[in-house]
Amino acid sequence: RFYRVDSSGYLSGYLDRGFSAQEENRWNFEIAWEAANKVGGIYTVIRSKAYVTTEEMGDQFCLIGPYKEHHARTEVEDGPLGCDVLNQAVQKLKDKGFKMHTGRWLVDGNPQIILMDIGSAAWKLDEYKSELWSKSNIGIPHLDIETNDALILGCMVTDFLAEFRTAAEEFGDGIPPRIVAHFHEWQAGLGLIMTRMRHINVATLFTTHATLLGRYLCAGNIDFYNSLDKFNVDEEAGRRQIYHRYCIERAATHLAHVFTTVSDITGFEAEHLLKRKPDVITPNGLNVKKFSALHEFQNLHALSKEKINEFVRGHFYGHYDFDLDKTLYFFIAGRYEFGNKGADIFIEALARLNHYLKSSKPDVTVVAFLIFPTKTNNFNVESLRGHAVTKSLRDTIHDIQQNIGKRMYEICLSCRLPDPEELVKKEEMIRLKRCIFSMQRDGLPPVTTHNVVDDWNDPVLNGVRRCNLFNTKNDRVKIVFHPEFLSSTNPLFALDYEEFVRGCHLGVFPSYYEPWGYTPAECTVMGIPSITTNLSGFGCFMEEHIADPQSYGIYIVDRRHIGLEDSVRQLAHYMYDFCRLNRRQRIIQRNRTERLSDMLDWRNLGVYYRQARQKALHTVFPDYKEEMENDIGKFKYPRPLSEPPSPTSSRATTPAASVHGSDDESDSVDEEKELEELRANHN
Ligand code: UDP
Ligand code: G6P
Ligand code: GLC
Repeated sequence: RFYRVDSSGYLSGYLDRGFSAQEENRWNFEIAWEAANKVGGIYTVIRSKAYVTTEEMGDQFCLIGPYKEHHARTEVEDGPLGCDVLNQAVQKLKDKGFKMHTGRWLVDGNPQIILMDIGSAAWKLDEYKSELWSKSNIGIPHLDIETNDALILGCMVTDFLAEFRTAAEEFGDGIPPRIVAHFHEWQAGLGLIMTRMRHINVATLFTTHATLLGRYLCAGNIDFYNSLDKFNVDEEAGRRQIYHRYCIERAATHLAHVFTTVSDITGFEAEHLLKRKPDVITPNGLNVKKFSALHEFQNLHALSKEKINEFVRGHFYGHYDFDLDKTLYFFIAGRYEFGNKGADIFIEALARLNHYLKSSKPDVTVVAFLIFPTKTNNFNVESLRGHAVTKSLRDTIHDIQQNIGKRMYEICLSCRLPDPEELVKKEEMIRLKRCIFSMQRDGLPPVTTHNVVDDWNDPVLNGVRRCNLFNTKNDRVKIVFHPEFLSSTNPLFALDYEEFVRGCHLGVFPSYYEPWGYTPAECTVMGIPSITTNLSGFGCFMEEHIADPQSYGIYIVDRRHIGLEDSVRQLAHYMYDFCRLNRRQRIIQRNRTERLSDMLDWRNLGVYYRQARQKALHTVFPDYKEEMENDIGKFKYPRPLSEPPSPTSSRATTPAASVHGSDDESDSVDEEKELEELRANHN
């Protein structure tokens, strides 16, 4: 679909690793603060999209970002860039005294990257500021270090583009260079502003992943979406002391040849707050990897879940009286924007779920993880102790097991069967007793794994206190607040985020402000059902393209047309409905969720960015023809063929032994029909 072979046998079309781009002397630079510098979802956009863009542009594509030593050292391989012209332009800047690092980003696609050392140009800050002021009347306060840094990066990028343009004139056998400079978010927007102010002849694209004002306004207590047309934008920005940042964002939006954002809902917001309607909506994709075995992702779920089980055993030691086979793992994760990310209504709905489960499904336990990085004074002692005592029990049992084995072997060698009393020695029983005694605890299992700084003002902890979710034995919903992003070097979890997501049962992201929302999208491609909202770009996209999202494991909470109380109730009901599914139903649902991943693949969604680049090129170089793009908007995923709207367990199952001796919870799914559908989809 993406490759064409022309008459001479060459691959052409748009995924030809830069062949067409070379012929046309066409280049693409993508500039972002989060290039090889992880902060939030923009990093995920840049990183995951690199693969298709490199497939399309080869070494005519290059990322540009700030040099952050810690990230660069672990993510970027130093070395010269793939084309001489690029290296020439870099050298020109180095000759001026700027430090920059070039190389390849070690992610799929292995794209070229230039990282600018902001410190090396800091001595020019005043000059840059006065240039910005004289040309645009935007002044940056002295104390706003982030914006000052963004200006330095912007000016360095502009210098680079100017040098590159000159070098590329000589490169294309007389074909003038067609350069797209694509800037992401307001921080990179300063580069766009300077590029236009200095009249550098390149096509510019600006993608915003949110609006500054939108994020701030939503964090307050405001009926945002119904008031969008009424805000006095200058006044609101001034009141929040972000007027200069707002001006930068708005100037970049208006100076760009083409302006895009990630969803219709943010497009609508931009129209009101930034006063420009996006030319193209560029929904976010992922770099989806298909396993050769269709059920591999199910196996991975089971493997990762076992690691989470191990954490839970340690964390709830002494109170571990629930059946892990009937325990469900829910989670919310992201940057710590309590209200915007919907953590407020998640906690409230968990309290209700706790009540529903206590009264009608007391055998089911839900462990809800809240993963939001905030300031901490490291892990708390109680958490570490839990893991230490379970580890000590495990080690002791392992020891005793070995001893029993040896004894049994010796006794059997003398041709007799061992007496049970001979096998376990008294001192071993004492060791076991000591372990069991050390697992008694006075207090309840902690709600948080770390000592949170300013504990009494922490919004999650306050929500948990208000809702009385204290991990008592009677609670069917247990809470674990992990105030740090996950990583495999973490001593409690030893899981990275992806593994953790795979091991969970349900991601819950009831956001109020969410231009796209990668977290539920990532769940989807891993085959993990999730809850999102009709105020998130992702939720709206799924609603638009799937006839019955819920049957695919995408639950969409209404936060637009109903009141807060009703949204909380709906969320609690979705979670409760999910708790009522048995294992077989969950497996079927995961299969269906995973089937949606093609829809979120950059191989399909990358087309919108391509369209935006072409539009920008066409604006600046009118002889450059835009191609007609196929339009994903025209298709809609039907209901799953074999299923009514919610997965049912009533179908005949293979009479295999069930885990609990009850057919209801059997994990052997008669998946013939499901598999047929799956295969049809994968083909
Ligand atoms: N994320 C992560 N580790 C975590 C939790 C989240 O790396 O423990 C990542 C997640 O994979 C996602 C990003 O953070 O790609 C959040 O992006 P999203 O678009 O959901 O929200 P944003 O932070 O950009 O508002
Ligand atoms: C996957 C595995 C099964 C396992 C199941 C558990 O499907 O392939 O072997 O039993 O996950 O599912 P659950 O929803 O109970 O975690
Ligand atoms: C922003 C938004 C988020 C989006 C991400 C990537 O940070 O908050 O919703 O997914 O950018 O576009």
